Amino acid sequence: MRVNINIIVIIILVLLTDYGFAGRDFYKILGVQRAATVNQVKKAYRGLAKQLHPDRNRDDPKAEERFRDLNAAYEVLSDPEKRKIYDAHGEEGLKDGVGRGGSDPFSSFFGDMFQFHTGGGNQEREIPRGGDVVVNLDVTLEELYNGNFVEIVRNKPVKKKAPGKRRCNCRHEMRTRSLGPGRFQMTQEEVCDECENVTLVPEEKLLELEIEPGMRDGQIYPFVAEGEPHIDGEPGDLRFRIHQLKHPRFQRRGDDLYTNLSITLVDALNGFSMDIEHLDGHKVRVTREKVTWPGAMLRKANEGMPNYENNNVKGSLFITFDVEFPKGLTLPPEDKEAVKRLLKQDSAQRVYNGL
Ligand SMILES: *[C@@H]1O[C@H](CO)[C@@H](O)[C@H](O)[C@H]1NC(C)=O
Ligand SMILES: *[C@@H]1O[C@H](CO)[C@@H](O)[C@H](O)[C@H]1NC(C)=O
Repeated sequence: MRVNINIIVIIILVLLTDYGFAGRDFYKILGVQRAATVNQVKKAYRGLAKQLHPDRNRDDPKAEERFRDLNAAYEVLSDPEKRKIYDAHGEEGLKDGVGRGGSDPFSSFFGDMFQFHTGGGNQEREIPRGGDVVVNLDVTLEELYNGNFVEIVRNKPVKKKAPGKRRCNCRHEMRTRSLGPGRFQMTQEEVCDECENVTLVPEEKLLELEIEPGMRDGQIYPFVAEGEPHIDGEPGDLRFRIHQLKHPRFQRRGDDLYTNLSITLVDALNGFSMDIEHLDGHKVRVTREKVTWPGAMLRKANEGMPNYENNNVKGSLFITFDVEFPKGLTLPPEDKEAVKRLLKQDSAQRVYNGL
């Protein structure tokens, strides 16, 4: 009897955990922990959105549904308010529902890093396009090392229906008019169609960019159709150009980093051990046993920038040493002798042209 009660309790518990929250498990859908930070949620979403996008899974009838679930999960977990409600009451708690209505889940929220080439697209008629807008986006080396998410509010003119009609698709055509037998006059005329009237209304739109680890200076981050509108055609693109800011301590060349380290003459002779703070705050230990000369270079493998194509691969960090000599100091004779004995260097000066 007792065993049976236990089984019933277990069944009830199972029912509660599975169906207690009548709704989807957004954490599971995104594959993140309950304690995931907003950036982790965004990262997971972006990765999965690329994989699960219906354009990429045309043969899978469930693709749209899965993509919708993914967007709903993202909509809730990336919003602290909604997430709090969801954590407490499940999807039921979010009264207005999620992922239905509201924003279009297929809109290019994260830009078009996941562009799929949809067909060859041989355009017969040239559709006029608005201008492309290129915007420099200043990014720190820290952001390029660690990755980051940036929100940008774009004030974008959007086409809206307006009263009346307007002339559109105007082109020039030749007209021939007979002026009598054997005589014609040709004139060029502008011919237009009549279209619905439109007006451009500014609309705020939030664009979200992921600064991915290892992105390079000059790299383009496109948002299709977010550029200048065209009254008779399609809007141009908005392109963010990554502009890497100068860093006070590190210089980047490809995936390698360069830095200078000033040490004292004592450390240069005796050896030393010290830490350099890296772009994410971790410490890189620099240890020398041997004498270090000015201009000596030390290479630390895997302490460079993450490679953009494969974040698990990192470049190297090159440290160039500079030795600070004590200035205006004259050693007493016995110390001079001691230094001579210690270093055993021939005093053979050499005058040379270093070029
Ligand atoms: C088209 O709409 C604009 C903006 O509402 C208006 O100013 C203009 O007069 C309209 N044009 C016609 C032909 O009605
Ligand atoms: C290191 O010093 C050299 C020579 O002064 C300079 O050209 C280089 O820019 C410095 N590198 C960094 C990362 O400051």
